[in-house]
Amino acid sequence: MKTRDQHNAPASDDDVVAGRVRIFDTSLRDGEQAPGFSMDRRAKLRMAQQLEALGVDVLEAGFPQASPDDFAAVAQIAGALQATTVCALARCQDGDIDSAARALEAARHSRIHLFLSTSPLHREHKLGMSKAQVLDTAVHAIERARGLCHEVEFSAEDALRTEPDFLVEVFSAAVAAGASTLNAPDTVGYTTPTEIVELFEYLRRHVVGAERVVFSSHCHDDLGMAVANSLAAVGAGARQVECTINGIGERAGNAALEEVVMALKVRAPHFGVDTRIDTRQLYPTSRLLAELTGQAVPRNKAIVGANAFAHESGIHQHGMLKHRGTYEIMRPQDVGIAETSLVMGKHSGRAALRQRLQALGHRPDDAALDEIFGRFKALADHGRELHDEDLDALALGHDPHA
Ligand code: KIV
Ligand code: ZN
Repeated sequence: MKTRDQHNAPASDDDVVAGRVRIFDTSLRDGEQAPGFSMDRRAKLRMAQQLEALGVDVLEAGFPQASPDDFAAVAQIAGALQATTVCALARCQDGDIDSAARALEAARHSRIHLFLSTSPLHREHKLGMSKAQVLDTAVHAIERARGLCHEVEFSAEDALRTEPDFLVEVFSAAVAAGASTLNAPDTVGYTTPTEIVELFEYLRRHVVGAERVVFSSHCHDDLGMAVANSLAAVGAGARQVECTINGIGERAGNAALEEVVMALKVRAPHFGVDTRIDTRQLYPTSRLLAELTGQAVPRNKAIVGANAFAHESGIHQHGMLKHRGTYEIMRPQDVGIAETSLVMGKHSGRAALRQRLQALGHRPDDAALDEIFGRFKALADHGRELHDEDLDALALGHDPHA
């Protein structure tokens, strides 16, 4: 097994400046863990290459101890990526740590992500461990992992339901043992933006060695607040956000990467931080994941859903034809979508119909437009979207459905 010194690129957190948030993608681990989203080795590798093109800083490739196939997938991804830190998940157990390290051997930048529950509920009912045992277990695991990869992340599972003073104790011990990223997961999606701000501010004030490490958020979406909570954590000093493409993940999912990234970009003056994501790759990445998993993206999904840049109502279409800023706060091209679509349906108005007919080469005068509009509404009232070929037929005086 390689030791840290034998890897070809040394670990470095020096590039983490106050104004940049690292994007840690866990689509291939937490996302893939959810029912309906499992991917085979080839699919995971294809997805990992696309995530590298997207520009994620850290890619969690899997949980090597979970299965031989997951081990092989992590090893293959570790050997294939160039610029992205490849991360493998491990429980605080020697076997897990050693197999994560072996799977990461070929990585140019490797990270072992250790996790251990810290909340009273998990300590008592899941681990059967005292506080002291949790502390010792975490420290031993971090010390072991530290020599086997470039960097170690420690996650206090169920952090948001952990006593804050115990969390400070565990995190301070984790820093002393060699962890460079401290992750406070909202494992069950229970927290609120106000609460997570309080916790991150408290941790940054009290953890010994806080200034040497990166604090990270990892929010689940059980109450639909994963993205809001992640952004709140960034406002309180988190400089890594763990998230997934299309928000896939355990139960209701994880914070959606595309939403976090575009919120930070569109509201840059508000947040004052940036990411290294090439946002034009967001839509292609979302489509690729949908294709590889066979799980469609909901039409109304923010940023990447089919309706995200589509307008059907006459009032909105009229506004968009005058100035796109009336009903869009970002350009579709910025997320990799070719253009805004004005969908021709029963809510559409004359202005959009005229514009679309003109784009198709028709030049109806006002009277002809009135007549076409009447027939268009009669058809669209049946709830159907009318496509260009339907509009061509209407303009030529034919019934497209005859
Ligand atoms: O949700 C969670 O707590 C996790 C940890 C393994 C980080 O996914
Ligand atoms: Zn999780």
